[in-house]
Order: sequence, then structure tokens, then C-alpha cells
Amino acid sequence: MGPIVEAVSPLLPTSGLVLEVASGGGYHSAVLADANTNLTWQPTDPDPDALGRIAKSVADAALPNLKTPLELNAETEDWSVETAAAMLCCNMIHIAPWSTAEGLFAGAGRVLSGGGVLFLYGPFKVDGQHTAPSNESFHEWLQNQDPAWGVRDAEAVDALGAKVGLGLEHTIDMPANNMLRVYRRSE
Ligand SMILES: C[S@@+](CC[C@H](N)C(=O)[O-])C[C@H]1O[C@@H](n2cnc3c(N)ncnc32)[C@H](O)[C@@H]1O
Repeated sequence: MGPIVEAVSPLLPTSGLVLEVASGGGYHSAVLADANTNLTWQPTDPDPDALGRIAKSVADAALPNLKTPLELNAETEDWSVETAAAMLCCNMIHIAPWSTAEGLFAGAGRVLSGGGVLFLYGPFKVDGQHTAPSNESFHEWLQNQDPAWGVRDAEAVDALGAKVGLGLEHTIDMPANNMLRVYRRSE
């Protein structure tokens, strides 16, 4: 968790709401909210079990700037949050169909204000190649779970951003052959 906090925190806006999509257990929002108390953090997930885990994590953290979780499915247009200064999504687009990545960026295009930033964390292929043998094995494992899942091509993901006015601003190598890709909306 430390490396994500260190990479994300300096690039965050100074105020506003940070919407986390696919919060899972809610730990990223909880730790980041503790480290960035100037921002309000909104965890979300579509899965009822995950929402229960996030609610517990939010209660345990007891931070005034960490909100109770909301149900949000990235694939729908019916997002319960209308505007955000930043968005965070970790470990979702490879473990869901491609339409989920499309929905994530479409939603970012709707809710991010000018200058808003989207942090996308996970494994990526670059120039059509896996960046490590472990990512290639992970991709095979994902495809065995569901042929619609898999490590995504960074360039295809960046193209989704470009379609909604989100330009790639930074790529940061992260532990275990993951990457943080940072997209910003023009002002
Ligand atoms: C591997 S977990 C990652 C959880 C957390 N972000 C983390 O990094 O530990 C993937 C999460 O994606 C969520 N997810 C799957 N499909 C989704 C969708 N269409 N919209 C939003 N979240 C989705 C799942 O419910 C699950 O919580």
C-alpha cells in the first residue's frame, strides 16, 4: 500500500472529492484518506460483499474525510457521483471485461472536472508485450478464469482516455510489475 500512497499523493488536487471505482476491500481509499485529509474520499463497488467489507474498513478508519461506500458499476451510465476532482481505480480492468474499461473512461469523461486526474493501477502490456514473465502467466491465468479477462494493452487503454479528453500524463513503475498510469483532463 505504501508505494501507491507515495506515488498518488503528490499528484492529487488540493481539494475536492476523490472517487474510487472498484474499491474491493476499501483499503486504498482508507489509507489515502488518512494521508490526504484535505480531500474527501468516496469508495464504491458494485458487489454487495465488497460494499460490506468497505463499510467495515470505513468504520474502522473513522476518518471524517472518508465516506460510506456507494454502489457503482463502471459499465453503467447511472453513476451515483456526479462530479469528482480525481478518480482512482486499482486492479479492475484486467479482471473484468473490456467493456468495464470502456465504462470507466466514459464515466471519467462525465464526472471529472477540468484538470481532474484518473489514477489507473495494475499490470499492462506495453507495445503489445508483457513487461515480465509473471504478468504473462497472470494473463494466462486470467483468461482461464474468463476469456474476457486479461492484462490490457496500455496503448488501447490510453486511446480510451484520448476519446474523452484524458491525456496520459505519467506512467510510474510500481512493485510486482504493476504500473500506475495517470491521465489528466484538460482544463
Ligand atoms: C481484484 S478486485 C480489486 C479491489 C481493489 N481495488 C484492490 O486493488 O485491492 C476487483 C474489483 O473490481 C470490482 N469490479 C468488477 N467489475 C466492476 C465494474 N463493472 N464496475 C466497478 N467495479 C467492478 C469487483 O467487485 C472487485 O471489487
